[in-house]
Amino acid sequence: MPDDGAPGGTPEPDPDFEALLVYLREKRGFDFTGYKRPSLVRRVRRRMAEVGIASVPEYQDHLEVHPDEFTPLFNTVLINVTSFFRDRRSWDHLRDELLPEVLAAAGPTIRVWSAGCASGQEAYSLAILLADALGAEQFRQRVKIYATDVDEEALTQARQAAYTERELAGLTPEQIEEYFSPEGARYVFRKDLRRSVIFGRNDLVQDAPISHVDLLLCRNTLMYFTAETQSRILGRLHFALNPSGVLFLGKAEMLLSHSQLFAPVDLTRRFFRKRGGRPAADRPVPVAPLLEPPPFSELELSRLRREAMLSAPAAQLAVDADGRVAMVNRQAEQLLGVDERDVGRPFQDLEISYRPVELRGAIAEAAAERRPVWLRGVERRRPGQEPTVFDVQVRPLYREDSTLLGTTIVFDDVTQYRRLQTELEYANRQLETAYEELQSTNEELETTNEELQSTVEELETTNEELQSTNEELETMNEELQSMNDELHSTNEELRRSTDEVGALNRFMTGVLGSFRAGVAVVDPDLRVLVWNAAAEDLWGIRHDEVSGQHLLNLDIGLPLSDLHPLLRRQIAGDGPSHETVDLAAVNRRGRPVQVRVTVSSFAHGPDQRGGAVILMDPTEA
Ligand SMILES: C[S@@+](CC[C@H](N)C(=O)[O-])C[C@H]1O[C@@H](n2cnc3c(N)ncnc32)[C@H](O)[C@@H]1O
Repeated sequence: MPDDGAPGGTPEPDPDFEALLVYLREKRGFDFTGYKRPSLVRRVRRRMAEVGIASVPEYQDHLEVHPDEFTPLFNTVLINVTSFFRDRRSWDHLRDELLPEVLAAAGPTIRVWSAGCASGQEAYSLAILLADALGAEQFRQRVKIYATDVDEEALTQARQAAYTERELAGLTPEQIEEYFSPEGARYVFRKDLRRSVIFGRNDLVQDAPISHVDLLLCRNTLMYFTAETQSRILGRLHFALNPSGVLFLGKAEMLLSHSQLFAPVDLTRRFFRKRGGRPAADRPVPVAPLLEPPPFSELELSRLRREAMLSAPAAQLAVDADGRVAMVNRQAEQLLGVDERDVGRPFQDLEISYRPVELRGAIAEAAAERRPVWLRGVERRRPGQEPTVFDVQVRPLYREDSTLLGTTIVFDDVTQYRRLQTELEYANRQLETAYEELQSTNEELETTNEELQSTVEELETTNEELQSTNEELETMNEELQSMNDELHSTNEELRRSTDEVGALNRFMTGVLGSFRAGVAVVDPDLRVLVWNAAAEDLWGIRHDEVSGQHLLNLDIGLPLSDLHPLLRRQIAGDGPSHETVDLAAVNRRGRPVQVRVTVSSFAHGPDQRGGAVILMDPTEA
């Protein structure tokens, strides 16, 4: 992309970017071609960066495939920075100095237009200003505030009339108290006054303006447009205003080059009035006092007249009705190369009659039409001298009976005046260019400022989001901590239970170890649970070798299959509480022994199958 240029400079247009603007206009009817390029390019680039696209044609393809992208693009381009009573001093000036006159000049309905109203703060500031000035009752009856913008999302927000405490920053506590009521986390503008504010979409570049407006605010909006588009919009604003209406612009917007449409009322605070609006106040015309002419002799009088004519500062000739030179004054002698000796000669014989300008025709024309003929800007060049410029007046003179007496030709030397005029025009052009550059720089600074402000607002939102994420994390942290505490106490309980179980185990092992007889305990599936030291000793097989094994599969010197019926009955709970049987067996040393085996059932609890306890008592070796 080419350099966007410094403020006031004319950057080279980027054909890709221009093609994108045409695409937006044709596809969405949104015409950005009249917006100043530096800011516009920055904003579009910013959106492109957000979606991770570097080239403009690629971004255009992206828009084609993802029409949802238009909305975030427009949101990025249209900067909605605003606030209540923005530039407070200007609003105070409006209230104190201009509003009374505007209200007095308005008809029964006071029509106000906030053009480029963004999220509505400007329109509600107007409502507050007018309600304060008129009282609520009069306001409701007489005021209509039209608030328009091209940005539908901003308008939706404006229609809700609900603002956060931070957004109310430009208002005094008294204004908040009187005009807003809190609803949840927001403050809502008074409903009875809200009805007089009418929001609508209006594109300043393309749509017809609101008409018959008494007070028109178009603030911090014009500055986004190129000079040419500003001119077009200003034409519409001029149409919109009533003859006595007032236009209120943003602090960077000057209208210096549109002085034919608007005249400043207060340039520093940016108030303007429509030109050709108010009739000028009748001013008294100063009248010269009438003086009595002093007495004068005829001779003295004619001498004075002659002397006055001869010494007149402008070069002058007189020609009689027959075309002869009748008089040449001193200035004419000096400037035009004629003298007293030419008096009486036919004027047409003199060089001055045709050089530097043809005078004979002018004399004939003045006589025929009985009116002065002007020949302006006549240049007379003489060798070695600067050219002299004259405005020549050829004036017919008449007798009292209206017959032609002759003609006087006056050469007004306007060389100095012309030079000054050229210099002045040049200086004016310079000044205008300087003003326009200054204006454009000023507007550029202001738009950059607004961009920065909108970035700050976005950062603040991100910050708030981060803060709320932080708060959520903190809550989760606390929840985790409390779960941790619970786990700790559960652990503690577990440890206590484990200790208890250990103690119980040791106790049981002690009890079982104290039996002289071998003790085995099986579960309902006849898997070995307990195998005491006496059983180990009797059968020569360790607890860890039998634990979990099926009892009937153990290879010991006891005929275990003889125990099966007893075990089945005991586990099933059929028959007596215990059963005893004497069995011939072989102990671990291979010696035959007689063993008395008692099988009894046991249960963990009322509804649980327990298993069986087998007591193996060797009765003889
Ligand atoms: C910076 S805001 C100014 C808000 C308010 N006037 C103020 O001074 O606080 C500029 C507004 O102009 C609007 N805007 C931009 N182009 C527009 C157009 N062509 N027609 C109407 N409004 C437009 C934007 O949507 C934005 O809301």
